[in-house]
Amino acid sequence: MEFRIDPWSHVMIKEYEKLFQYFGIRPFSEVVDELKSAVEPHPLMVRGVIFGHRDFNNIVNALKRGEEFAVVTGLMPSGRMHFGHKMLIDQIIYYQGLGARIFLIVADVEAYAVRKIGRKESIELALYDYVTNYIALGLSKSNLHLYFQSNYHPKYYRLIQMISRKLTFAELRAAYGDDLEVGKVMSVVTQIADILHPQLREFGGFKDVLVPVGPDQDPHLRLTRDLSQRFESEFGLKPPASTYHRFMSGLDGGKMSSSRPESYITLNEDPAIASQKLMNAFTGGRATAEEQRRLGGEPEKCVIYEFYAYHLVPDDGELSKIYYECRTGRILCGECKLRASDMLVKFLNEHRRKYEKAVDKVYEYINPPDF
Ligand code: TRP
Ligand code: SF4
Repeated sequence: MEFRIDPWSHVMIKEYEKLFQYFGIRPFSEVVDELKSAVEPHPLMVRGVIFGHRDFNNIVNALKRGEEFAVVTGLMPSGRMHFGHKMLIDQIIYYQGLGARIFLIVADVEAYAVRKIGRKESIELALYDYVTNYIALGLSKSNLHLYFQSNYHPKYYRLIQMISRKLTFAELRAAYGDDLEVGKVMSVVTQIADILHPQLREFGGFKDVLVPVGPDQDPHLRLTRDLSQRFESEFGLKPPASTYHRFMSGLDGGKMSSSRPESYITLNEDPAIASQKLMNAFTGGRATAEEQRRLGGEPEKCVIYEFYAYHLVPDDGELSKIYYECRTGRILCGECKLRASDMLVKFLNEHRRKYEKAVDKVYEYINPPDF
């Protein structure tokens, strides 16, 4: 098999089908109807943005039986929080609304060891960019464990130590390639503990755990699933369920990447600059206006359309209207971008007000490490 995902490289995952084929990720569409029979799905699920899963049936069953389940995910404080990250927090807030227990991780250990970000910088970034934005987006304090990987419970560190005994270099190389670094290995072991610890009695003893992530994180999940089985007799751990969402494209046509500010819009972007970035963005438009009126645009290839579908237009009817106008050439990109930009500016202005209120609440949500 010559297809490996490297969670730390900047490759774009375009070939989502390969993930089904090679790694046994299942199409999310196969569980949506079942989910609908229990709860209202999230718009990202209905719109195919959340495209894949493993064992999501377990979560649907827990919802149907009214049993509590846990949701675990995290972000690395290594660059500004942007709209690509927001998708994940939107999902977390959705599951929190369904009554799930949330374990939300600030992956500062990974930021230090793999991304080589200074401690002070990443702690500040975590507190006043990521966590403050989570609160502004509506994350609630109830049913929430929001923690820094470097500053958590002693039993979590004990689990990390126990996991280390059960991993071999051969399987780490198979999962991550030959250029393993000690820091990467440590981050992986830490992440496995992030995902497995909610099953321990001390952390709630959750039978069902869901990990919503981007597909770049799947190597970690595959390894975690294998490992959970090696703890069967000690702790009775079982493999976690997971879902996978599509990445947003970069505004300039490439990957949305923290190393290129032109490629993303942060949650705290100056509205004028945000609007400018949208106006310059890569679209699914045609070479000339005449051609676009005749052939219609291609929303499937359009970053502006992604902004509508992922963030700006909650109403499905309104979204299909935009899709139709584009497809039939009734609207051209200039006008369409202006509309998107108005919506975005409105969002950013409201978000800024919420952000300012959220700043004072940060310490009610999380306990930062001292260095
Ligand atoms: N590795 C993830 C990232 O790069 C962050 C992360 C840490 C995480 N622990 C996790 C994600 C547990 C899902 C579950 O952003
Ligand atoms: Fe994208 Fe809008 Fe142009 Fe269609 S009309 S390609 S949605 S910018």
